[in-house]
Amino acid sequence: MATHLSSVPSAPRAAGDGFATVDDMVAALRPAHPVFCLRPAVLESAARRFVEAFPGRVLYAVKCNPHPWVLSALHDGGVRDFDTASLPEIESVKGLFPGANAYFHHPVKSRDAIRRAYRDYGVRQFTIDHPAELEKLLDECGGGGIEVEVRFATPPGFATFDLSTKFGATPEHAVRLLRAVADKGLTPTLAFHVGSQCTSPEAYRIALLLAGQILDAAEVPIASLNVGGGFPAAYPNAAPPPLDTYFAEIAAGVRLLELPDDCGLLCEPGRALVADGCSLVVQVDLRKDQVLYVNDGIFGSLSETVHGKADFAVRRVRPGGGAASPNEIQFTVFGPTCDANDRLPFTWILPDDVREGDWIEVSQVGAYSNALATHFNGFYTDKFVTIGA
Ligand SMILES: Cc1ncc(COP(=O)(O)O)c(C=O)c1O
Repeated sequence: MATHLSSVPSAPRAAGDGFATVDDMVAALRPAHPVFCLRPAVLESAARRFVEAFPGRVLYAVKCNPHPWVLSALHDGGVRDFDTASLPEIESVKGLFPGANAYFHHPVKSRDAIRRAYRDYGVRQFTIDHPAELEKLLDECGGGGIEVEVRFATPPGFATFDLSTKFGATPEHAVRLLRAVADKGLTPTLAFHVGSQCTSPEAYRIALLLAGQILDAAEVPIASLNVGGGFPAAYPNAAPPPLDTYFAEIAAGVRLLELPDDCGLLCEPGRALVADGCSLVVQVDLRKDQVLYVNDGIFGSLSETVHGKADFAVRRVRPGGGAASPNEIQFTVFGPTCDANDRLPFTWILPDDVREGDWIEVSQVGAYSNALATHFNGFYTDKFVTIGA
């Protein structure tokens, strides 16, 4: 497998990259390129709250935001385990925190990635959803002392985007896979993912009922049960219940399974840990009546407006520009590329005097933003600053 180390930023934190506020950053840098404004304290406390409240072990899903400052802030908040999906993610985690655990929880892996994860990075936890993947693990790890997580598909309809259209065994196949793992002398574990930005806690209860049926049929003891990610962010156009409701639902569902005391409980959130800890500052390149052309868009850091249907809050930043006009109007927003699809699915409500050169702060973009940005048309940003203490 080709590694893409360049896609995992590794630059050390540079002097001069910290600001008290976003307005201070804009006044100092007057950035002509989009800037990610990380709040390490917000990330750290989100991690701490999650780790303290979840009734099991919390793995951070690195794919959601792999920036090393993000990983460090979450580590400061108590996260010691990481859900990784590729060798570069494993390398990044192990490079930053040699003592941390990287779980290789992608159900489909190249043989090369399996071999190197096992041999070079000591990875011992792998996911499968098909017997052919089990054969690959047996071949490449020599069968030695690994935990094999069987992922099953969950019913659709509870999350903004469903992952079970791509991954997850049917219950019948999951039963067979669990038995096959045990027959090969490996340690079976069980997992599901209810889909990302899941606004219905009952999705976890339904998935846990399915897990119970699978375990009853398989009659194979598991070392742990992983309830995945999917925990939502409270975007302005989403009103999810508080995370405690999810944790209570999961705790109740797990109790019904009557798992043995030594069976671990895991989760692997991404979005809920990082969405609030980062905003993005973009600049207006052109205004045409009620249409703004800004320097980031759906091929860059704002693709989550499409995939995650996130209608981020925005505000105008104009250093030294005095009070904003009290009249607010809706603007259609285009990104910087030549593609007409580069148009945000939501309008932005901003003061009616917004003009070329103004900056706009887009909130809650910590999840699936920089991680998904393309270089299309040459537009790309990897400029990060920190805001706050
Ligand atoms: C296997 C796995 N775990 C965890 C996550 C994180 O999900 P979320 O950001 O919705 O919490 C994902 C997201 O795609 C995933 O594929």
